[in-house]
Amino acid sequence: MRIVLGVGGGIAAYKVASLLRLFTEAGHNVTVIPTEVSTRFVGTATWEALSGNPVSNSVFDDVHQVNHVRLGHEADLVVIAPATADLLAKAATGQAGDLLTNTLLMARGPVLFAPAMHTEMWQHAATRANVEMLRTRGAAVLEPATGRLTGADSGPGRLPEPQVIFDAAMALVQGQTDYQLPLAGRTVTISAGGTREPLDPVRFLGNRSSGKQGVALAVAARNAGATVRLLAAHMEVPVPAGVDVVPVETALQLREAALAAAADSDVIIMSAAVADFRPAEVSDTKIKKRDDSADPVITLVRNPDILHELVELRNSALPNAAGPAGDHQLIVGFAAETGDSHGDVLAYAQAKLQRKGCDLLVVNHVGSDKVFGQDTNSVVILARSGSEPQEAAGTKTEVAAAIISRIGFELNHVSPRA
Ligand SMILES: Cc1cc2nc3c(=O)[nH]c(=O)nc-3n(C[C@H](O)[C@H](O)[C@H](O)COP(=O)(O)O)c2cc1C
Repeated sequence: MRIVLGVGGGIAAYKVASLLRLFTEAGHNVTVIPTEVSTRFVGTATWEALSGNPVSNSVFDDVHQVNHVRLGHEADLVVIAPATADLLAKAATGQAGDLLTNTLLMARGPVLFAPAMHTEMWQHAATRANVEMLRTRGAAVLEPATGRLTGADSGPGRLPEPQVIFDAAMALVQGQTDYQLPLAGRTVTISAGGTREPLDPVRFLGNRSSGKQGVALAVAARNAGATVRLLAAHMEVPVPAGVDVVPVETALQLREAALAAAADSDVIIMSAAVADFRPAEVSDTKIKKRDDSADPVITLVRNPDILHELVELRNSALPNAAGPAGDHQLIVGFAAETGDSHGDVLAYAQAKLQRKGCDLLVVNHVGSDKVFGQDTNSVVILARSGSEPQEAAGTKTEVAAAIISRIGFELNHVSPRA
């Protein structure tokens, strides 16, 4: 496929090098057209070297080829990233002052804009009108991600991750009208890893959670277009790029972070292994081993049920949210269950789903060698909406994709919020 990749003059231009790589590695022939301003952020040498094609931003280069006509005609797809407020305005009003805007007017294939700018610029009535105009004319305009912007500020306006733009572009070329990814514009909070409950300055009570499933969920949610906040307890895997990380250690710290994150989360996935109990007392000094004294006794106290508290908080914020998926926040719990002589795993899990009041419950059937630390997983997803339980098995990446896709379905088709 022949792709024209227009690069606007925003700070996020550097991220477009990764997007270009995704296109070329998928076998596409990419011509990059950087605007004059964008070359102050990333030079043309980068685009020429990475694309393997000559780069120009003037209609007066290689005039014998009439480049804007040729490129516009040949392009199977035009992607503009970052689409600055200025470029959106120029495209919406049909301006043709440089090679990129001329090419946009010539192009007859799908056009995808991936905006990036400060929140105020994105929300300005002028930009809203330009985006509306472009969408009305059939162009695809992605919702920007929410998160850290150029300075210390954050909000909607961040360039979607390169993989997100790539996936949306491929969906658009295949004629899919829902090129907006299932979690575009949504904020997803995910807890991952295992909590550690201190006994003294050197010892803790922990668990075997590696964080692999939670991290796979974070990657899948990010790739589905969400802004992802990862509440990271102890993990044996690195945190992925493109997600905001809030490190936590204990169940109480995780509770505090989760309740704070709930305020702006569309989805909360509680996949961390949270200790049910913690030592009642934490010694300030290392508990000593003395030959003459009795064995130490550790008294445990219950940790709060964070999932239950999140559901209560959600329901109290909106008392009528008792519908199948709630109408403003989707809460997903994880349960590790074993069957016994009184009931099978699913029966216990169904009871837990009703008791906890979350919208989806992802159930692991745990056994001696299953789940913890492994690269594969096998789960059943139960929904409070009463729809059929859904099984997902495979690598943790595959299981995460199934869970995120189910969440997208619940948000976009089941919840009244959609
Ligand atoms: C450091 C810096 C960062 C900028 N980031 C953005 C941005 O992310 N989005 C945007 O719309 N404009 C941004 N601007 C302003 C644009 O550069 C300016 O509007 C320019 O005219 C856009 O040119 P273009 O049409 O070639 O994209 C930034 C300017 C500076 C100096």
